[in-house]
Amino acid sequence: MSESAVSVLLRAEGVSKSYTLRGRRVDVLRDADLAVEGGMVTALVGHSGSGKTTLLHILGLLTPPDRGRVVFDGADGGGPVDTTGMSDRELADLRRGRLGFVFQSYNLLPQHSALRNVALPFPGRRAEGEQRARDLLARVGLADRADHLPSELSGGEQQRVALARALINDPPVILADEPTGNLDTDSEELLLGLFHELAGEGRAVVLVTHNPAVSAAADRVHLLERGAFAPVGRTETATETETETGTGTRSSK
Ligand SMILES: Nc1ncnc2c1ncn2[C@@H]1O[C@H](COP(=O)(O)OP(=O)(O)OP(=O)(O)O)[C@@H](O)[C@H]1O
Ligand SMILES: [Mg+2]
Repeated sequence: MSESAVSVLLRAEGVSKSYTLRGRRVDVLRDADLAVEGGMVTALVGHSGSGKTTLLHILGLLTPPDRGRVVFDGADGGGPVDTTGMSDRELADLRRGRLGFVFQSYNLLPQHSALRNVALPFPGRRAEGEQRARDLLARVGLADRADHLPSELSGGEQQRVALARALINDPPVILADEPTGNLDTDSEELLLGLFHELAGEGRAVVLVTHNPAVSAAADRVHLLERGAFAPVGRTETATETETETGTGTRSSK
């Protein structure tokens, strides 16, 4: 990863998403724009139900938007890559090569050990994948839990296994949904340190969070309200809306 100037790695442009359930339409995202920069930890905040997970899944190429587009920038030194209209196969290739995704509910495979869960997305030799997985488990403080099944791990440990899995293919963009939701202060600090380390390697790290300590430590904070984003300046004091959302977010660098 390059440590050169800040560059946008991934963009959502004019993204809209609605769900219709039992005849009632819910407009979750309305023309939302977001540019995700390499070298930065970006926090996405907003009240519960504001659409953070929906947006993250759209950025992660797991859900297509109804309108708008998701674009990877400057990939492999080439021009922008518009993901609109790509086949499932193309999307899966992009996801595997460029994205690490940490799900809000972890999505670990229950029949596999922590080590196998982390190594599974690695496309190369099994032994190499497992060696990388061991290193990553050590990086998230779980060197001694490699052989545990997910059911034999605490919630916070499962969360850290999910992060290690997201890193197995060395992705330039990491998208994590509430990655510190189940952690004590020590593990939270370890992960925050790791996220900044990953950003320091030039990666874009995007964290959805309700945790004021996480957003306060982020380089960028974007508040999702009424279906779209507004950047939150580091020097601004908390607005009425932010206080209402309970994020307590005051700042971004
Ligand atoms: N598959 C679906 N069908 C219908 N409505 C949905 C669906 N998925 C999400 N929604 C609705 O979209 C809205 C946004 O959901 P989303 O999960 O993106 O919120 P969130 O900001 O991540 O909330 P939280 O902080 O609680 O995780 C919610 O009101 C939810 O009820
Ligand atoms: Mg969510």
